[in-house]
Amino acid sequence: MTSAPRRDFYQRIAKLNAAPLWEVLSEIVGARPNPASLPWLWRYQEMRPFLMESGELITAREAERRVLMLENPGFPGGSRITQSVYAGLQLVLPGEFTNSHRHAASAVRFIIEGEGAYTAVDGERATMHPGDLILTPSWTFHDHGNPGSAPVVWLDGLDIPIVNFFDSSFAEHLPDEATQDAVHSAAPSFAFPYAPARAALRDQSLHACHGAKMEYLSAAGTSVTKTLGAFLQFLPAGFKGAAYRQTDSTVYCVAEGSGSSRIGDGMFPWKARDIFVVPAWCSVSHAAAEDAVLFSFSDRPAQKALGLWREQVPVYKS
Ligand SMILES: [Fe+2]
Repeated sequence: MTSAPRRDFYQRIAKLNAAPLWEVLSEIVGARPNPASLPWLWRYQEMRPFLMESGELITAREAERRVLMLENPGFPGGSRITQSVYAGLQLVLPGEFTNSHRHAASAVRFIIEGEGAYTAVDGERATMHPGDLILTPSWTFHDHGNPGSAPVVWLDGLDIPIVNFFDSSFAEHLPDEATQDAVHSAAPSFAFPYAPARAALRDQSLHACHGAKMEYLSAAGTSVTKTLGAFLQFLPAGFKGAAYRQTDSTVYCVAEGSGSSRIGDGMFPWKARDIFVVPAWCSVSHAAAEDAVLFSFSDRPAQKALGLWREQVPVYKS
C-alpha cells in the first residue's frame, strides 16, 4: 500500500511528467520474459470458409491485400500474432491481380494452398507453389497475381510491429494500372522452393528438441531478412521432442503430416496447413503422429543483432 505522503509526491511530480521508477521497476525490468501473447492454434479447415467468404465481400483490388490477420488473443485488435510479428492469411482468387507497393516492413510468405499465382519483386517474378517460401525484402516493390484457375492462399509474416515500435514506417503505392514490368526468373533470390528445402532435411541428424531443423539462408549466408528468420524442420513419425524455450516468439505453419505440440500447459494437436504460435520463453515440445514438416518464422535475427536472443535447450523445469 502506497503511503499518503508518497501518493502526494507522485501527484506533484506527475504535473512535471515525471514518475517514480521504484513503483514499476520489477514490472518494466522483468527477471524473465512475461509475454502478453498466448499460445494459440488456428485450424485451417476453420479459417478457410471465412477466407473464401472474404473473397465474395471484397476484391483483391479494393482491399489492396485481401488478408485475414491472425490476431493473438493476448492482443485483441492488436493486428499482430506476437508482440513483434504480424501474420495473416492472404487470398488471391483466379484472375485477380494486386497493385504494386513497397514498405519498410519485410515479409516472409509461406504458400499454403493453390498453384499458379506469382509474386513479383522489383521486376522479377516467382511462381508460387505450396510449401514455397517467398520473401519481400524491405522497400522492394511487390505485387501478386493469380492467372491460374484455383484460389491461392499463403501465410504472410511481417515485421510490422517492429517497424512501428521504432516509428520508422514508410510506404508507397503505385496506381492500380501500374503493374510491374516483371519477367519470370528461373531462380529468383527471393524464392525458396519447397522440394529442395524438404530434401535437404533428410541429410540432417535429429536434434532431441527440434528433429531435423534448418534455417533458410540468403546466398550471403545471412538470415532471410534482417528482422525475420525462417526455418523448416522434419519430425519423423513417432518423434517425441524434448521441451525447449527461446526468447523469439515463433509462428509455425504445418507443411505436412500431423502431430501435437505441448506449449506451456496446453496441448495443441495439429495437421497440415494449421498455424500455431509459441510465445517467448514459453516451453514447447513437438510430437509427430506421422512424418511431419513444420515451417516457422520468428524475429530471431533482430534479437540476435541486438544481443537479446537466448534459448534453453532442453527445459527440465519451466
Ligand atoms: Fe506488401
